[in-house]
Amino acid sequence: MYKALFYTHLISVNIFLFAYLIKTILLLANKKEALEKFSKGFKVPEMIISTLFLITGIYLLVQMGTTKLLIIKICFVFASIPIAIIGFKKSNKVLAVIAMLLIIMAYGFAEMNKKRIDKQTIAPSVADVNSPNYDIKKHGEAIYTAYCQSCHGTGGTNGAGGADLTISKKSFEEMKAQIKAGSMSMPPFKDVMSEQELSAVVAYIVTFRK
Ligand code: HEC
Repeated sequence: MYKALFYTHLISVNIFLFAYLIKTILLLANKKEALEKFSKGFKVPEMIISTLFLITGIYLLVQMGTTKLLIIKICFVFASIPIAIIGFKKSNKVLAVIAMLLIIMAYGFAEMNKKRIDKQTIAPSVADVNSPNYDIKKHGEAIYTAYCQSCHGTGGTNGAGGADLTISKKSFEEMKAQIKAGSMSMPPFKDVMSEQELSAVVAYIVTFRK
């Protein structure tokens, strides 16, 4: 359900952006008739798409909680709407372009949310597998703090946008696969984490379960 809504949101955003781009280009190129034709033909699909986009957006927001970046993104989207409407009503190119830039920036913020992660250094005192004092959960905790806590929160109960790990029912292998590959707004970690680190972080996050 969550996945379906996430992709509905993504697809409607893309169609919306694409249509807006076409309209802006037509406006800038002074193709008044073509613009009118396009706007008329696209009116109903546009209404359906914007409704889908808003409903799925609100749902995702409630589910995932907000982050600073997300709030900025939402402000940009909502600021762009009246500017776009006025811009096209008055055939004002400057306003239409400003609205376009706002939408693109909002899109950019969404992309930044899932940009690739930098490799973090984990303290050798906990990461040395050959040490007689090696504790896989301690190692995992350090990895979790470095890479995961920002989204999943302390104790795994959803800090800013991650799934609640205390109620996860996934197996060890399933979790490892998901951490490697990433999922929706969670970035893939396969390039920054070793197998040992993956095992360690999974060994740690299962301790969150009740
Ligand atoms: C940018 C935010 C973000 C970061 C960073 C992040 N996650 Fe996630 N994580 C998510 C989101 C969002 C989901 C839900 C994805 C889904 O349902 O497909 C998720 C889901 C998961 C799940 C699956 C839970 C379940 O049962 O459905 C696991 C396990 C997990 N993350 C572990 C980690 C670990 C370990 C790290 C650090 C190495 C990490 N995550 C870093 C956002 C993040």
